Amino acid sequence: MISALSRFIFLICVVLIISFITLYNWGAQWAILTTVALISIPLVYSYINLARLQKAIQTDSVESMSLPSGFWEEVLFRLQRLVKSLKQRMLSIEQQHDHFIEAFQASPNGILMLDQNDQIEWCNAIAERFFGLNFKRDALQRINFLIRRPEFIQYINKRNFEEPLLLERMGPNSSLSLLLQLFPFGNQRHLLLVQNVTDLQKIDAMRRDFVANVSHEMRTPITVLMGFLETVQTLDLEKGQRDQYFDMMMSQAQRMKSLVEDLLTLANLEANSLPAATNGVNVETLMALLRNDAEALSKGKHSFSFKVEDPSSLLGDEREILSAFSNLVSNAIRYTPDSGAIDVSWKLNTEGQGEFSVTDSGPGIASEHISRLTERFYRVDRSRSRDTGGTGLGLAIVKHIASRHQAQLIIESTPGKGSTFILRFPKERIAL
Ligand SMILES: Nc1ncnc2c1ncn2[C@@H]1O[C@H](COP(=O)(O)OP(=O)(O)OP(=O)(O)O)[C@@H](O)[C@H]1O
Ligand SMILES: [Mg+2]
Repeated sequence: MISALSRFIFLICVVLIISFITLYNWGAQWAILTTVALISIPLVYSYINLARLQKAIQTDSVESMSLPSGFWEEVLFRLQRLVKSLKQRMLSIEQQHDHFIEAFQASPNGILMLDQNDQIEWCNAIAERFFGLNFKRDALQRINFLIRRPEFIQYINKRNFEEPLLLERMGPNSSLSLLLQLFPFGNQRHLLLVQNVTDLQKIDAMRRDFVANVSHEMRTPITVLMGFLETVQTLDLEKGQRDQYFDMMMSQAQRMKSLVEDLLTLANLEANSLPAATNGVNVETLMALLRNDAEALSKGKHSFSFKVEDPSSLLGDEREILSAFSNLVSNAIRYTPDSGAIDVSWKLNTEGQGEFSVTDSGPGIASEHISRLTERFYRVDRSRSRDTGGTGLGLAIVKHIASRHQAQLIIESTPGKGSTFILRFPKERIAL
């Protein structure tokens, strides 16, 4: 400021001195002309610089303007510095803002920011998908006009957001369960967080089904067993009759035992680490064991063929592999009527994968059941399966063991003709 003032005084002094010299030498007319001319020089200079500045502002190029000399140099230099630092600050604020947006977009949860009137200020892409919103279209719309579920409208009107709200059958195809909660922030604004809890809900439903199924499966033999016990206790039975009752009680106890054993097997499979691909299990030895068990179970009622086309070793857990194979063989025996044929084979397919297959000439399975066979407790014909002592856990165990060995369980069946169950192991699990 001081330098600007002194510069101004200096200029006035120069103009006055020159004007006085002109007045003294050439008269008043020339003095006035000279003074006007001298004063016009800085004015024109200033005008030119202002015009340049205006153009630079219009084209957003103030920082790159070439600097004039003198007073304007200082003014424009300071202005350039100011513009540069403001732009820098704006850039860093924008970057910060972009980082926040990126972080909110990366969140697996839906996020919506609502203003004082519950209008959408911002939402991420997940929230758009959950509620079928389009931020560009729906910005500043009231949230209760967009999410029309009565439970949600009630929740938002109550203004008590301490507990979350569960909305089911939401999202595309109405297949999602969403947990919503509003959190106040800033000046009466709210953050609406939306969590996808579909899988948790499914697991919860599965757990409930599982407990219900286990209880049901246990209750039936216990009830039957208690009935027999009561009969034996209260009636004076002959020895032969009593032995018959004891046999029946034994078979019910046996059913409970195999149910508990199957449940334990499943629990162990879930808890244990994956079987290493280092231990080789000789397939021919496995086949010999399977043959012995099969013949004992069938008691000569079926004809068998056991074939090992490509002798090899399977890399995995011997106990698990034997359990999966014998489950498939025992199913074939149990569901194939007497004098039926059962073929068990091992071969390597053209891609080098190992295939264990069990083909029977039994009743076959209708296609609508096939995809559900590996569900726990799923049985095609409950009463028939119960007669054979089945708990409906066998194929669930087979599927589990298969996936632990990266193998596939393939089921092919034609009702009335028979079924083929194939376990296909990847070539990394085969050693020749
Ligand atoms: N080879 C087969 N032929 C016809 N139906 C079969 C065959 N294997 C399985 N099934 C059907 O699939 C259902 C499920 O089989 P799974 O082995 O899981 O249970 P289960 O044999 O009833 O009981 P578990 O094996 O636990 O003793 C059976 O109840 C039966 O209806
Ligand atoms: Mg079975």
